[in-house]
Amino acid sequence: MTKNMKNKKHLYSFTYHNPEYELCKLESRSIFNEEEKNKVLFSDIKTEPSSSAFIKSRLDIISLSEDYSTLIDEVKKEKISAEGFKVEYIVFDGDTTGYRDRLGKLKDIGFSIDGDPDYYSPTITYALCYYEGVWYFGELIKDIFDWRKHKNKPHSYSNSIGATIAKAIVNIASKAKKEKNILDACCGVGTILLEACFSGNNIEGCDINEKVCRNARENLSHFNYEAKISHSDIKDISKWYDAAIIDLPYNLFSSASDNDIVNIIESTAKITNRLVIVSTIDITTLINNIGFRITDYCIISKMGKRKFTRKIWVCEKKI
Ligand SMILES: C[S@@+](CC[C@H](N)C(=O)[O-])C[C@H]1O[C@@H](n2cnc3c(N)ncnc32)[C@H](O)[C@@H]1O
Repeated sequence: MTKNMKNKKHLYSFTYHNPEYELCKLESRSIFNEEEKNKVLFSDIKTEPSSSAFIKSRLDIISLSEDYSTLIDEVKKEKISAEGFKVEYIVFDGDTTGYRDRLGKLKDIGFSIDGDPDYYSPTITYALCYYEGVWYFGELIKDIFDWRKHKNKPHSYSNSIGATIAKAIVNIASKAKKEKNILDACCGVGTILLEACFSGNNIEGCDINEKVCRNARENLSHFNYEAKISHSDIKDISKWYDAAIIDLPYNLFSSASDNDIVNIIESTAKITNRLVIVSTIDITTLINNIGFRITDYCIISKMGKRKFTRKIWVCEKKI
């Protein structure tokens, strides 16, 4: 293995809009313990692209080589037999292979696999790509974007966060571990709950507003998801959670010393050691006052609205 060859099991590709750049990095650190670079990441950690806000695809690497004909020999040695397969070419930055050449290479791969291809409804998709001097071949798993259907939920809320942020926050809170039990302490109409349920996370919600709770339940049942939603002030919840998310109320409040914000954060801090807080204001002092430390952080600016920013605070209890 030469220095350019990445001895990892998976090659991930990412996509994001500029205002989400920092959030993508934070989600990547939370899932992989490292950041994607140039929208690419090699890792041994396996995660589903559709569970992430920013992962476009995962290539499960089967063969790799710096030399193209050696790669084809390696693919043939695998003796892959797949009826109804498809092969795609992923173009990464720095790959100057022309269109015709790419088509020829896809044919080479096709002829190295035993079985008839099916381009329209494949049973399995393989991919070929060239990145930093190395050819990679493997099975391709793509984000199916099915979660975007949540945009058509029956009830929305002017204070709701978008589905992309919600999805990233679920991964940041759970570190992409589905078995962790998570609380969305101020769940509103359930934007975060929807994304967590879609990805198979173990989540519950709580909100002080009865109508909002009803709407959240209707949103979940609209997509056939189930999650417990408590109509309660967070101060009355005593169950312990591996992590809690707080999408703080805003517009109503203007300063970090506001009692309601302090109460929400203090109450949630009593039932978990890990908090992910979404705020529009600086809450550094508050976090310190409850005996937590900030372990990660990012800012998201709203598209077209440079002045409106959301801050994401990842906090752990000090020991
Ligand atoms: C910014 S909104 C959350 C929006 C939510 N993420 C969504 O997607 O709909 C804040 C929510 O906090 C709730 N809230 C305010 N004080 C609360 C408290 N003490 N306990 C629980 N929920 C509270 C409000 O009713 C409101 O729905």
